[in-house]
Amino acid sequence: MSTHPVDTAMKGILLAGGSGTRLHPMTLAASKQLLPVYDKPMIFYPLSTLMLAGIRDIMIISTPADLPQFERLLGDGSRYGVRFTYRVQPTPDGIAQAFVIAGDWLDGAPCALALGDNLIFADHLGVLLRAAARRTEGATVFAYQVRDPERYGVVAFDDDGRACDLVEKPEQPPSNWAVTGLYFYDARVGELARRIQPSPRGELEITDLNRIYLEEGSLHVERLGRGCAWLDAGMPDSLMQAGLFVQTIQSRQGMLVGSPAEVAFRMGYIDADQLRAIATTMGKTELGRLLHELANGEVPR
Ligand code: TTP
Repeated sequence: MSTHPVDTAMKGILLAGGSGTRLHPMTLAASKQLLPVYDKPMIFYPLSTLMLAGIRDIMIISTPADLPQFERLLGDGSRYGVRFTYRVQPTPDGIAQAFVIAGDWLDGAPCALALGDNLIFADHLGVLLRAAARRTEGATVFAYQVRDPERYGVVAFDDDGRACDLVEKPEQPPSNWAVTGLYFYDARVGELARRIQPSPRGELEITDLNRIYLEEGSLHVERLGRGCAWLDAGMPDSLMQAGLFVQTIQSRQGMLVGSPAEVAFRMGYIDADQLRAIATTMGKTELGRLLHELANGEVPR
């Protein structure tokens, strides 16, 4: 794996376990994060996001039953010019548990975490992500306005627009700004995650980790504007909406959304021949055709 100017020392975790009860019966025998979002498995979208941030060392965490399927799908990462490591979360004991599970692998490195069922689509997203990945102190989270904030961690802002509180699934949300499933932390994250105690629902809450940073004044909250899309594909309606969204953008613009192969090529992790080899494995699909066009320089770079 050669180094590249946009690489960061930051590692990345893709969290793809959980129980997926809101998608039963679809998730009774299959992992939620392997379900299709239009023409790709769901996990391709957050994986592309981490790679766009310049992160090339990525741990994929899933359930004991599902982890082998992710390994079959993604391999060791070399085809994308990155490195994948796999680890089990025995039971879904909370999102922040990822940092405890990954503790020795992190080995004091800063780390980003992406939830395997979240999609972010925005103009200039790469610039925003790489800025977050380069920040050496504190944490960065992204907030997005939603109609149903009570389902998420919610940020409260003071009169000067500064984040002043974070609450997990509040009955009375202090704002409609939800924290999205993409988080960037400094090198202390492994140590700070070990301080968190399980919440009343028995989980190590990511909101409790974010609150540690908020309370010490080092939580950066980036508000994503109305030109961005953040989708959480964890329920039948949102799964369908995410698929339709990707189909609309791709068929209208002829540009891909959530393709790790495209990101690897644009980031310079792989060359045109390597991209062509991936495209060929996709047979006669539209996805394969678009990747071939990209490798041949027929798509604007
Ligand atoms: P959720 O959607 O909160 O939980 P879930 O996937 O178990 O689904 P449901 O509520 O329908 O039962 O999880 C958000 C993401 O984080 C999702 O990609 C699964 C992942 N996750 C884990 O991998 N381990 C965990 O312990 C938890 C709580 C979530």
